Amino acid sequence: DWSMAAFRQEAIRKIRAQVGDAKVICGLSGGVDSSVAAVLVHEAIGAQLTCIFVDHGLMRADEGTQVTELFRNSYNIPLVHRDASDLFLGKLDGVTDPEAKRKIIGTTFIDVFEEEATKIGGADFLVQGTLYPDVIESVAPKGGPSQTIKSHHNVGGLPERMDMDLVEPLRELFKDEVRALGRELGLPERMVGRHPFPGPGLAIRIPGGVTREKADILRKADRIYLEEIREAGLYDAIWQAFAVLLPVQTVGVMGDARSYDYVCALRAVTSVDGMTAESYPFDHSFLSQAATRIINEVRGINRVVYDVTSKPPGTIEWE
Ligand code: XMP
Repeated sequence: DWSMAAFRQEAIRKIRAQVGDAKVICGLSGGVDSSVAAVLVHEAIGAQLTCIFVDHGLMRADEGTQVTELFRNSYNIPLVHRDASDLFLGKLDGVTDPEAKRKIIGTTFIDVFEEEATKIGGADFLVQGTLYPDVIESVAPKGGPSQTIKSHHNVGGLPERMDMDLVEPLRELFKDEVRALGRELGLPERMVGRHPFPGPGLAIRIPGGVTREKADILRKADRIYLEEIREAGLYDAIWQAFAVLLPVQTVGVMGDARSYDYVCALRAVTSVDGMTAESYPFDHSFLSQAATRIINEVRGINRVVYDVTSKPPGTIEWE
C-alpha cells in the first residue's frame, strides 16, 4: 500500500524528532492499536522503547502468551509482562456494580502500570494508540454511548500525574487504516485483523460478581465460539464476537442426570466504528453447532442463548 508506506516513513521521522534519545514506554493490551503503535515506535527508536503488559487475569484464552511471544520473539522488543491476576481478582471480589467494576480495574491498572514503569527507571514519553475517532469523541462528545454510558478503560487512559509527554502516532488514523499500517509493518494477519477487546476484559462479560472460576468457564466457551467462527470463515465479516457468562443457573439434563448450571450468551455484531451495531445474522445451524459444542465441552454451562440486540438501544458489551 503506497500511502501507508509513505505514512510509515513520515511517522517514523516525526517520532524521532519528538523523542530524541529519551526513554519511552508503551502499555500493551493485546489489541491492534497498542500493538501497531508499539511496533511503529520500535522501528523508529529501537531499544529506547520498553513495553509493559499488565495482565489482569481477565484476558481471553492465550491472549497474554500471544502478545508476549509476538513482542519478545518475533520483534525482540523489550517487554515487561506483569501477571497481576491475583491483585485484580482480589479487588473485584464481591463487587457486582458494572461501573464499580470498571473503576476498580481502571485504577488498579494505573497503579500496576506505574509500579512497573518506576521499576524500569521511568520514562519521558508514553506511547498511546489513540485513533482519530477517539480524538474527535473527546473534543466534541457526541453524547455517544461510550463516553456517557460507560466509563472507558483502556491502555490509553493513563493518568496525567504520570507526567510524561504523549507519543500518539495513530492520531490521524481510522481503525481500517491502523490495520493497513500494521500489515505494512509486517504484523501477522491474526494480530492485525483482531476484533476489538475492551480494556476491562472478561470482567464486563461476566455480569455481576467476577471470580476466577467464572472467568475460566467463560474463557473456554469463548474460545470454542471463536474457533467455530473462524472455521466457518466468518471472523472477518464480524466486528466483534464473544461469549458472555450470565449470573443465572437453569435446569437441564446431562445423560440421565439433572444439571443446574450457568447460561452462556453469544454475541456477534457488525459495525463500522463501534458506535452503532447490528447483531450478526448467523445461520441457525451455525448457532446450534456452537451451542452443542459449548455445552458438551464446558463444565458449568448447560444452556446457550444468542443476543439479537442492536446498538442502540443495546450496547455491544453487556456492562
Ligand atoms: P459498547 O459496549 O459501549 O462498546 O457498545 C463499544 C466498543 O468499545 C469497546 N469497549 C471498550 N474498549 N475500554 C476499551 O478499550 C473499555 O472500557 C471499553 N468498553 C467497551 C467494546 O468492546 C466495543 O468495541
